Amino acid sequence: MDATLQQIQSLIRAVPDFPKPGVMFRDITPLLADAGGFARCIDALAEPWQGSGVQAVCGIESRGFIFGAALAQKLHAGFVPLRKPNKLPPPVVSVDYQLEYGVDRLEARNDALRPGERVLIVDDVLATGGTVAAARALVLKLGAQLVGASVVIELAALQGRAGWQDERIPLHALLRY
Ligand code: PRP
Ligand code: MG
Repeated sequence: MDATLQQIQSLIRAVPDFPKPGVMFRDITPLLADAGGFARCIDALAEPWQGSGVQAVCGIESRGFIFGAALAQKLHAGFVPLRKPNKLPPPVVSVDYQLEYGVDRLEARNDALRPGERVLIVDDVLATGGTVAAARALVLKLGAQLVGASVVIELAALQGRAGWQDERIPLHALLRY
């Protein structure tokens, strides 16, 4: 792993048994609080997409907003929030997805993306993959063109990548655990 990624990784705190016993939580707040580390993280997230013509970055509520908004600025793209239920005024387009227990939903304004607009999805963590797959379905439902997705952390053991479905659309992860 190169020195930049090592530095980013060193700023992510491992918290055992949170939010429940047996789970290792990856806390990104020390990374966000470190000016240089956060800037290098955004640079590293942007790197694969330079020159790819991304017009809109869709950040997933809530931690995806933090990285997504900064990345949108870096890529000279707009930012579109994909939100948890009942946060946006109607009319909205929504996609339901499965959680470990129960279902959740992502919503966007029905006019949030233009037809064919080149879109990048951003989130902090890829775990089971349900969230990013729902974001992907939502972007496609809005008629936009999905260029790819980026996450800071991939929890590889949970095999979230398997649910991404389309190998022609890249899903980048900075760090893998
Ligand atoms: C977390 C994380 C990802 C998602 C990944 O969000 O930020 O968005 O879970 O899980 P998955 O790959 O299994 O779907 P969460 O909704 O827990 O909370 P947040 O509001 O802090 O982002
Ligand atoms: Mg989240």
